[in-house]
Amino acid sequence: MTRYALISRSVEYEARLASLLGPELTAVPGQYLTFGTDEVLERIPETPHIALLGPVLNYEETRQLVGGLTERYPEVGIIVVREQRADLEDWVDGMRLHAVLAPDASDATALRLFDRLKGWLTQVYGTDTAAGDWGGFAVEVPEPEPERESTPSFDDLAGLAVVTPIAVRPPSAEPAEPPELEWLFPAALPQGARSEILAVVAPKGGQGKTTISINLAAALADAAPNSVVLVDADVQFGDIAAALDLHPAHTLVDAASAAATGDELVLKTYLTRHADGFYVVPGTASPELGDDLTAPQLGALLRSLAQIFRYVIVDTTPGLGEHTLAVIENATDAVFVTNMGVPSLRAMRKELELLLQIGLLPNNKHVVLNFSEKQSGLSLRDAERIVGAKMNVVVPRSSAVLLASNRGVPLLHADARDGAAVALRDLALRIDPAAHARRKRPNRRAVAE
Ligand SMILES: Nc1ncnc2c1ncn2[C@@H]1O[C@H](COP(=O)(O)OP(=O)(O)OP(=O)(O)O)[C@@H](O)[C@H]1O
Ligand SMILES: [Mg+2]
Repeated sequence: MTRYALISRSVEYEARLASLLGPELTAVPGQYLTFGTDEVLERIPETPHIALLGPVLNYEETRQLVGGLTERYPEVGIIVVREQRADLEDWVDGMRLHAVLAPDASDATALRLFDRLKGWLTQVYGTDTAAGDWGGFAVEVPEPEPERESTPSFDDLAGLAVVTPIAVRPPSAEPAEPPELEWLFPAALPQGARSEILAVVAPKGGQGKTTISINLAAALADAAPNSVVLVDADVQFGDIAAALDLHPAHTLVDAASAAATGDELVLKTYLTRHADGFYVVPGTASPELGDDLTAPQLGALLRSLAQIFRYVIVDTTPGLGEHTLAVIENATDAVFVTNMGVPSLRAMRKELELLLQIGLLPNNKHVVLNFSEKQSGLSLRDAERIVGAKMNVVVPRSSAVLLASNRGVPLLHADARDGAAVALRDLALRIDPAAHARRKRPNRRAVAE
């Protein structure tokens, strides 16, 4: 049984939803908002799985309800029922919503949305949480649209006005009205929250580690803005700042200093923010400075960052030097990158074997075949046979990669439809099923004019 709560000032909508959902629905008239948000929330008898807000609630009322609901029920899915208007973008940006449903959307569309949201929440929060006791979902969903992707996406729902990027981190970590600094820099992860350190490694240089690291950061930040940090741990020749056209005031050396790793606030001031919603620890300004950074210092930095961010993505130096080993040692996931050259494929096999032998192969590994092309004379099978492992993601050679890098923009945001971009997005989806492309927002000024 799915528990729905509706807070609305429309008697008609309430009646319509009641006939659609029957006893699964608790409706609280919006008139109770006169007495405050708590007065309304206390009228919801049991933890709801999905809360619908509207129609006919104003911005402030909705914002306070969203804050109150997420504080009480961090795993609740929240849908705002509202027409598509020019100011909808502000609502979506300003609140932790999962979807916006047009009030006149058909019953089938509404049910499809509920079903998908339910599936998504179960996937994100697991089956033994509140979201997991939904048991058999009784409502038949008519004419399900064919899935474009294997993971939940709301993008293709007719009648659905807007879908927000969905925060995967428990929303309680984000206060309803955060002061600016806290908004930009997420508070420390709540106890027990899972964070991931992803090492992007390759035995040989030039295989695409930096390209992959940058695009992973961009894709994961699409799903969880401000929850991703990208660390340039290619300690001598790191080039992430250049590839992202950043001009950082601080680098890896500052961030890895004892003053920073021992104090979250200091560490935050050493990060550089990228406009696409993630943070960067840029590489050292010169190779000599990189030499001064010790492997234990690097490990300590990664652990400190994992206290703050949901995802710590680490670009590394080719091979298995002490710094890269320190990264792998701390990593929950490793992305192994190789091209289609036989020497690179053989080196990859040796690297995997060695890591297995010394007990450092991270639990989650993703093998990426980059620069894939027909003319290489090798098939995918041949490449897999040489490496001795399945290629999880195949990224084609594409001129768009260099073009994006020269423009200082992540490929995923420069040219989302390019074949390499699609493959890189697939890699991100292996790590976070919510890492779908951000839907382009309508240009508000264009709408108004
Ligand atoms: N799939 C691809 N198609 C075309 N060019 C690519 C592709 N992947 C990466 N490149 C280009 O190849 C070059 C090397 O890529 P990148 O810098 O990401 O590799 P790297 O493994 O980080 O290298 P290094 O070991 O020097 O740090 C860059 O110019 C990049 O733009
Ligand atoms: Mg590199």
